[in-house]
Amino acid sequence: MRLFIDTGSVAEVEEIAAWGVLSGATTNPSLLAKEEGDPGDAIKRICELVDGDVSAEVVSRDVDSMVAEGRALRTLHENVIVKVPFSAAGLEATRILVSEGHKVNMTLVFSATQALLTAEAGASYISCFMGRLDDISINSADVVREIVETLRGGRDGFYTAQVLAASMRHPEHVVTAARLGCEVATVPGKVLKQMLNHPLTSAGIDKFEADWKSRPEFAQWLQGLVQAQTTHA
Ligand code: G3P
Repeated sequence: MRLFIDTGSVAEVEEIAAWGVLSGATTNPSLLAKEEGDPGDAIKRICELVDGDVSAEVVSRDVDSMVAEGRALRTLHENVIVKVPFSAAGLEATRILVSEGHKVNMTLVFSATQALLTAEAGASYISCFMGRLDDISINSADVVREIVETLRGGRDGFYTAQVLAASMRHPEHVVTAARLGCEVATVPGKVLKQMLNHPLTSAGIDKFEADWKSRPEFAQWLQGLVQAQTTHA
C-alpha cells in the first residue's frame, strides 16, 4: 500500500516529504480552507514536493461546472488528479473528464454499490472515508473489505480503480487499510507522526547512546572514521 498525505498545508508536506515515504497527496475544500494564501499556489507546491498524484477537488454540484472546474484544476500541474464528490452528476462528470484523459479520484464513497458505480465511470481512485463511517457506528473495516473484495472479484480483474482509504483518524486505520488490500491510504500529518512512535524504540535509542558514551575512546574512533571519509569524499 502506498501512503499519501491528506492535507492543505504546504509546511506539513515540506516536513513529512523529507522522510521519503510519501507517494502522493490529497487535499479537499475543508483542508484548504484552513490555510492562508492562494489555494492554487499551495496545490502546485504540494505537487512539486511529493512527486506523485495530488488530488484537488471540484466544489460545484452540476455536471458542466464540475467538468469546467476539473479541467481548470488540471492546468495547475501535470500531477493534479481531479477529485469529484460521489453523486449521479459526479459520475457523469467523471466519465467526461476521463474521456478527455484526466484522472479522477471519486470521493465520499461509503459503500460497495457506490464503489462499483465509481469504477464503471472510469475513476482511477475510489476514496472511502473510514473515520466518518466509524463516527456513525458503521464498521469501516467491514465496508472497506467489501469494497476491495467486490472490485477485485469483479469482471475478471477488469477494474483498474484503486481503493484509497481516507479519513484516517489514527494509526490503526492505516494498518487496517493495508491488511484489507487498499492500494493507497491518505493520512493526516498528525497520524503519520503518531505512526513513528514506539516506547521501545526511544528507550532503545537512549540505551545505545548511553552505552556508547560509557566508552569515550569508541566515540573518538567513530568521529575519526567519519572525518576520514569526509576528507576522501
Ligand atoms: O481525505 C478525506 C479526509 O480528509 C476526511 O477526513 O477526518 O475530515 O473525516 P475527516
